[in-house]
Amino acid sequence: MNHIQGSLIYEGKAKRIFACENPDRVLIEFKNDATAFNAKKRSQIEGKGRLNCKISTALFELLELNGIPTHFLELHSETFMFAEKISVIPLEVVIRNIATGSLCRETPINQGTILSPPLLDLYYKDDELGDPILTEERLKLLDLISDVQMKEIEKITRSVNKILKEYFDSLDLLLVDFKLEFGTNSSGELVVADEISPDNCRFWDKKTSDPKERILDKDRFRQDLGGVRDAYEEILKRIQKDSSNAP
Ligand code: TMP
Repeated sequence: MNHIQGSLIYEGKAKRIFACENPDRVLIEFKNDATAFNAKKRSQIEGKGRLNCKISTALFELLELNGIPTHFLELHSETFMFAEKISVIPLEVVIRNIATGSLCRETPINQGTILSPPLLDLYYKDDELGDPILTEERLKLLDLISDVQMKEIEKITRSVNKILKEYFDSLDLLLVDFKLEFGTNSSGELVVADEISPDNCRFWDKKTSDPKERILDKDRFRQDLGGVRDAYEEILKRIQKDSSNAP
């Protein structure tokens, strides 16, 4: 337990959110719990919390350096970070550079197809409904955000993709796709929230073309490939090699 930790505000599948003395801040704990397929599959991955907390810290810092507003404030300890208290927008914003995962299960698009421009898919964040995909009109009907906010979310997501894709390319990793979440802070500013880690990104190692070996993200858990922790360690190792950005 840590002394700054206030009451538990929310517990999700991979994180816990605690109140802080400053009402505009929260403390986020990264758990070792791993889930997939809307938590039908569950496990514990020793060290995952620490790895995702460090990887997210490095990536939020990289984004902030590039002018992207995020909820990240500072690393607190191995598995905790301080972030702005936000009002969460119930959207999962997925951007895809290479076709795989649900895109290939749900459409005839072949695995590995390069998506240019990157494909942006929106999902309604609701576990009970199984995070359904949204059409533009369904999004309007739900009235979750204004058109202006939606345009801003798309613009930020495409910028984040450009920054991260180039960054991971320099680490010999292909950024296949990832999911972002957004919120508004106490000033009403739209910020990137949640986490950016191998839990919500797909990374393929450019050093091998073996379709299983190259997977360095939660797909190793989803597909029972083993070596989940080693894959997350490898992502952190490559980030830390890039010394200008080591958390
Ligand atoms: P998908 O191909 O299963 O739709 O996943 C697209 C990306 O979104 C992938 O990087 C994994 C991430 N993702 C999440 O972060 N949370 C989820 O609940 C799902 C389904 C995917």
